[in-house]
Formats: sequence, C-alpha cells, structure tokens
Amino acid sequence: MKIAICPGSFDPITFGHLDIIRRTAKLFDQVIVLVSTNQKKSPCFTREERVEFIRRVTGDIPNLTVDTDDGLLADYARSKGATAIVKGLRAMSDFEYEFQMALTNKKLCPEVETIFVNTTAEYMYLSSSVVKQVCSLGGDISEFVPAEILPDIINRLKQTN
Ligand code: PNS
Repeated sequence: MKIAICPGSFDPITFGHLDIIRRTAKLFDQVIVLVSTNQKKSPCFTREERVEFIRRVTGDIPNLTVDTDDGLLADYARSKGATAIVKGLRAMSDFEYEFQMALTNKKLCPEVETIFVNTTAEYMYLSSSVVKQVCSLGGDISEFVPAEILPDIINRLKQTN
C-alpha cells in the first residue's frame, strides 16, 4: 500500500492546498493530511479548528485521513510506513526552504521520499498568510478558500481586529 503524507500548518487550508491534496489522492492508495507544527509560525487557528476545516472540505475523498503530530515529520512518516512526503511548490522562492527540509527528512528517514507537486497556475499567488491578511483587512477571500469554511474564517479573523 502506497501511503503519502501531505504535511503543513494549514492555517487555514486554501484552494491551493486542496488542489495538491486532491491530486496526491489520485496518485496514492492512502493520503494522510498531517497538521503539524512549524516552529517559525504562530498559528491563528487552533489545531482542532484546522483539522475540522480540512475534514469539512475533504469529506468526499475516500482514501484520505487527517491527523496531527507535534514531533518530527520524519519520525511520523516512518511510524506510518509512508512511501512519500508530498509538498506543493508554488515558485522558486519556495524551493530553497523546501529543498532543505526534504534533504533533512531524507537524512533522518532515508526510506521515505519527498515528492514536490507543482501548484496549479491559478493558485501560484495563494497562501494561508495571504488569506489571513486580505480577510483581516476586509477583502473578499471567496476565491481563496472553500465556501464550506468561508464564514468561520471570516468570523474568526474579524474577531481578531
Ligand atoms: O505549511 P508549512 O508551515 O510550510 O509546513 C511546514 C511543516 C509543518 C511541514 C514543517 O515545519 C514540519 O515538517 N514540521 C514538523 C517538525 C519537523 O519535522 N521539523 C523539521 C523539518 S526539516
């Protein structure tokens, strides 16, 4: 069984993430979307909220589960017997950081490959940070996040202003 892990902060999940997750689900038997900790970021949404948002917008993908983990991604991947860690790449600016993580994970867990999936062109500009910034300043984010989670994101980001 080929298992892929799609890790990230997902703060919150965007159409860009969803595009990578859906395409990965077509390539592997099982996909685990892993809400993990990026020590460089302070999330706006709780881990429970981020997991619930992902579950809400991926319910139609039969071979997908959502999980959380606070430890090393390499250890998690090994514990699940994963074939691959799948990361989305938007632009060359993503590459240096992602390449460093991929090489580190390969060192820590040689049996798991990191695979980069290029973003669909229409989502090249999109990130969770863009969503939070535009929304908190009153902009329209309906083209950035799925309709099922849109009201919750708007309500939360309004509260923080
Ligand atoms: O969506 P993000 O913030 O770019 O995701 C980054 C994430 C969470 C995948 C990365 O920080 C990660 O793998 N964290 C788990 C801890 C870990 O293994 N750190 C070492 C990475 S080389």
